Amino acid sequence: MLKTRELGRSGLKVSEIGYGCMGLSGVYGSADEAESIATLHRARELGVTFFDTAEVYGPFHNEELIGRAFKGRWDGVVMATKFGWKVENGRNTGVPNSRPERIRQVADESLRRLGCPRIDLFYQHRVDPQVPMEDVAGTVADLIKAGKVGAFGLSEAGPASIRRAHAVQPVAALQSEYSLFERGLEEAIIPTLRELGIGLVPFSPLGRGFLTGKAPRPEEAEAGDNRRRQPRLTGDNYDVNLAKTRVIHELAAEKGAAPGQIALAWLLHKGPDIVSIPGTRRIANLEENVGAAQISLSPDEMRRLETALPPGVAQGPRYTPEMLKLVER
Ligand SMILES: NC(=O)c1ccc[n+]([C@@H]2O[C@H](COP(=O)([O-])OP(=O)(O)OC[C@H]3O[C@@H](n4cnc5c(N)ncnc54)[C@H](OP(=O)(O)O)[C@@H]3O)[C@@H](O)[C@H]2O)c1
Repeated sequence: MLKTRELGRSGLKVSEIGYGCMGLSGVYGSADEAESIATLHRARELGVTFFDTAEVYGPFHNEELIGRAFKGRWDGVVMATKFGWKVENGRNTGVPNSRPERIRQVADESLRRLGCPRIDLFYQHRVDPQVPMEDVAGTVADLIKAGKVGAFGLSEAGPASIRRAHAVQPVAALQSEYSLFERGLEEAIIPTLRELGIGLVPFSPLGRGFLTGKAPRPEEAEAGDNRRRQPRLTGDNYDVNLAKTRVIHELAAEKGAAPGQIALAWLLHKGPDIVSIPGTRRIANLEENVGAAQISLSPDEMRRLETALPPGVAQGPRYTPEMLKLVER
């Protein structure tokens, strides 16, 4: 059974491995509804309590699916979702919108779609340059006072935005990309989080499946698979990066573990304030991921991984140029 971790000093307690639901809406290949729901239920049986979605996954299929899966089963679930985009005709425009009236609207609509008693953790999905962070934090603080939201989170925010938000409403967690393949948070962001007592929720902890060694080559992936547009996982970068991550496969073979388990165990060993949210559509992969909590890495093994995979090791940017513009460091 999984142990519990507190996200920073927020008081929010979640299973040491969470579950990212985005892939249940076809982002990395088509997903079957019955299999998705069975996987969500299996996650609860295995002791996963922390589930991650967003208004724009689907939109709004992901929240609706979770609502169907957890109807009458919300006891013990810590539900996180996100606001912060302009959605038009059921599509995410990719334009930030964190105006107070929009945040309040997303809270009400997400609560209705999910059908949960409250949103336990409400993240701003990306910083909105048009809306002062104080206004965003103040709006979420009001939703907390109203009992609609439990805690406030940010995603891909930099130190200055984190500090401005935290001064108005304590931030429970930052959700940003962090893995053996993407260590850009270590220089400035993780020290800021630790100073302020904010937890870290690494997204794409398996490098979008790449670190498991089982992700399809982009040219073999389904047409709707987002990884076909990930610069880091396409063209020459795929083979170069596969060679760079060989150390994960070697250590996994030595320890009788799966490569993805080594990637998740590395995150578990990076600090008690870190809770990753690997995503999968499949029960077998979920069971493997949860099994990572049983893997112990020695200081020598941690060093071996980190020496072979230092910050900046991956070839190619992790996002397209338009998406990178919305990320703060
Ligand atoms: N805040 C943000 O901007 C942001 C951005 C991206 C993601 N997220 C959140 O973070 C969560 C996780 O990130 P992610 O889904 O991008 O990437 P990820 O968890 O690193 O990888 C997911 C991919 O890995 C595969 N996979 C998972 N476990 C596996 C295993 N044991 N063996 C083989 N393949 C495995 C999945 O395929 P199968 O389904 O076939 O197992 C899927 O294609 C998302 O679901 C979402 O909730 C947030």
